Amino acid sequence: MTFDSIQDLPPERLPRHIAVIMDGNGRWAKQRRKNRLFGHSNGIDAVRRTVRESHKIGIRCLTLYAFSTENWKRPATEVAGLWRLLKSYVQKELPELRDNGVRLNVIGDVERIPGHVREAIDFTIRETARGEKMLLTICLSYSGRDEIVRACRQIAQEVADGRMTPGQVDEAAITGRLYTARHEIPDPDLMIRTSGEFRISNFLLWQLAYSEIHVTPTLWPDFGPEDLHKAILDYAGRERRFGMTGDQIQSGQTKSRG
Ligand code: IPE
Ligand code: IPE
Ligand code: MG
Repeated sequence: MTFDSIQDLPPERLPRHIAVIMDGNGRWAKQRRKNRLFGHSNGIDAVRRTVRESHKIGIRCLTLYAFSTENWKRPATEVAGLWRLLKSYVQKELPELRDNGVRLNVIGDVERIPGHVREAIDFTIRETARGEKMLLTICLSYSGRDEIVRACRQIAQEVADGRMTPGQVDEAAITGRLYTARHEIPDPDLMIRTSGEFRISNFLLWQLAYSEIHVTPTLWPDFGPEDLHKAILDYAGRERRFGMTGDQIQSGQTKSRG
């Protein structure tokens, strides 16, 4: 099935949750003979455009990978610049997010985020807590493996305390202890990666199990509404089979899922 425009899309074909690996800021800057922070600063503009457009289209959950645990290994000036940009983003965007019913959520090893940045983030989280139109989750100091390790550690503790038996450890138990359990974020339907890299880079390892993946060569600072539409239309044309056969899906026998 193919769709030509977002307006033609039946609502059930729209992804509920879009997750994005925003990549390519450094290369974008390099092409312009500028420093990497110039790329990140223009990347923030792409974040603003993407949040606005997702909200306009009616996406319920948007998750943006902004800083991985591994990104701490970058030069200190770049890391400091990134935190400065992120702080100013959450401060500047607060009125628009609040007025549009966008609720901010942050996941990752937040303890590692510099205190003054965390305060600004917490303020915007509190001030947007009533937003019901879209949940905007930003992954900061995030690692998918670490998220799973934390869930396992929590379960081990509960078993050690006698609050849970080993037999009760199932997929739901793990899912329920991930960062995404807060606000009951559904698994991403669509995962977009910019800058043409075909890898996951430690993003939402558990949650991406059955997500559709769209890789675009567009570098993140150039990502705009048309790129988002293209990704959504690509997604809408896919047949998600969840391990079943195409015939089963087409005849609607999807009850055996899971
Ligand atoms: C993505 O752009 C932003 C972050 C990871 C913080 P990069 O900074 O990774 O850009 P490239 O991959 O070097 O072009
Ligand atoms: C992934 O991009 C992390 C974020 C977008 C925050 P990276 O640029 O860090 O990923 P690798 O190193 O190319 O895998
Ligand atoms: Mg990169």
